[in-house]
Amino acid sequence: MMLNGKTAVVTGGSRGIGRAVCVALAQAGANLALIYAGNAEKAEETLQMLSEYPVQAKAYRCNVADFEETKAVITEIHKSFGSIDICVNNAGITRDKLMLSMKPEDFSTVVDINLTGAFNVLKQVYPVMAKQRSGKIINISSVAGLMGNAGQVNYAASKAGLIGMTKSIAKELAPRGICCNAIAPGFIATDMTEAFQDKPEVMNAIPMKRMGKPEEVAALVAFLASPMADYITGEVIRIDGGMAM
Ligand code: NAI
Repeated sequence: MMLNGKTAVVTGGSRGIGRAVCVALAQAGANLALIYAGNAEKAEETLQMLSEYPVQAKAYRCNVADFEETKAVITEIHKSFGSIDICVNNAGITRDKLMLSMKPEDFSTVVDINLTGAFNVLKQVYPVMAKQRSGKIINISSVAGLMGNAGQVNYAASKAGLIGMTKSIAKELAPRGICCNAIAPGFIATDMTEAFQDKPEVMNAIPMKRMGKPEEVAALVAFLASPMADYITGEVIRIDGGMAM
């Protein structure tokens, strides 16, 4: 129970990787404030899973792309839980198409949620952690942000931006003992990648010949959130079965 008494904010905690992250952090003893976009039923399912652990857990509906809405929700979380010790920026979407047919709104919507969304959350969390002089920030990027990907100009740009944001915040907050790292997953089996599951061309690109599990990403988040990772900051850790090496 290395995270006993800590409070974690996890965006996109209603399903997929975010849900697994909530469960892993609760297993380690953290209280959970999960943020989701709109599917209350899925958020309730995650809360049900968290009820197995002796931690506090609440779900908040919030569009992280909206600055004022995010400000109100994070302020409410801080008031209700008393601290914010771990922040996992995991909310994300794709809107894949080749550049030729990508509309400006396909680009801006993805960047607004994946990148500006993390900024909006961190704008509120940063002063809380800076004042506490402790905290762990974990941003969920993607191998697409490292390698680029045809059909993902918008998504890859947002995820590469998240890496730049991670390293800049790591440098700003290191003197206060706060760590900020990014995780770059490859193909992880969730709703987001349903269309790619078991496709031979996908499997051929992965040396381990399988997609990752949300729980495998969650274990890495739990490690980075723990005191075992106190000297790791500004790092980008791939978790991709060897795909991007
Ligand atoms: P998912 O589609 O299953 O879940 C996305 C989550 O983000 C949901 O909980 C949803 O409520 C939330 N969300 C979406 N828009 C939001 C908004 N405007 N405000 C607040 N919450 C919002 O996706 P998955 O696969 O679990 O992905 C989670 C993160 O991991 C994303 O950032 C994704 O880009 C990243 N990732 C996923 C990979 C994969 O293969 N599944 C690979 C690399 C990165």
